Amino acid sequence: MSLIKTDKEIELIRASCKIVANVLTYIKDFIKEGVMTQELDELIEKFIVASGGYPAFKGYGDNKNRYPASSCISINEEVVHGIPGPRKLQNGDIVSIDVGVLKDGYYGDAAYTFEVGEISSKKKRLLQVTKESLYKGISRARNGNILNDVASAIQDFCEGSGYGVVRDLCGHGIGSHLHEEPAVLNYYNPKNRFKLVKGMTIAIEPMINYGTYSIKTMKDGWTTVTKDNEPSAHFEHTILITDGEPEILTKSFY
Ligand code: MF3
Ligand code: CO
Repeated sequence: MSLIKTDKEIELIRASCKIVANVLTYIKDFIKEGVMTQELDELIEKFIVASGGYPAFKGYGDNKNRYPASSCISINEEVVHGIPGPRKLQNGDIVSIDVGVLKDGYYGDAAYTFEVGEISSKKKRLLQVTKESLYKGISRARNGNILNDVASAIQDFCEGSGYGVVRDLCGHGIGSHLHEEPAVLNYYNPKNRFKLVKGMTIAIEPMINYGTYSIKTMKDGWTTVTKDNEPSAHFEHTILITDGEPEILTKSFY
């Protein structure tokens, strides 16, 4: 399996990413106080299937622990991988919705953290900085650059704003598998000298905590939360490395 995709493969990844982008645009209007996260998940699954895709996260994992839903929905201090359920969104919540689609053997993956009603200025700034860090990272994802260029752009901006950059989870290459090489870290690591080359497709996904970067996994085996219980934000795009500006394959309203 080559990390450099053929034109044919890129077209298939592009198609899956387009569905992901459409799902996030569609679900945006349903983010309201009182809605259960499992209702959102049901809408997401129906939309993906109606678009000719399969929800990539459903059944992900091994026999000991398979992810049970079509999306990850993570509220406030939940970082990522929140399992949709009967919990209702409340005014002031921030809610990350992460969606993956498989179609014709290729994947797309993106996430956005939404505001529910009126949120605190503390949360608003966290969302703004995290979203901007994603675009700062994307802008460094160019042919010939190394992954540390992307990581440092994200890390310097977020830590400069006083936030914690999650260490235990990262972005990833994507293609005929949801998670491929390379691991796309959001923090500088001297070993992280992987060179980006035109034709690679990667998912960049900063997970940024208001406080400490430390996280833990809940007893459900999936949901990760901040150790200090402070809120966390998550934005993700799947992108294509080109000759010049990277192409955002999951581009939608953000
Ligand atoms: N966007 C996340 C990731 O790329 C979602 C994975 S959820 C899982 O890792 F259920 F598939 F693990
Ligand atoms: Co991802």
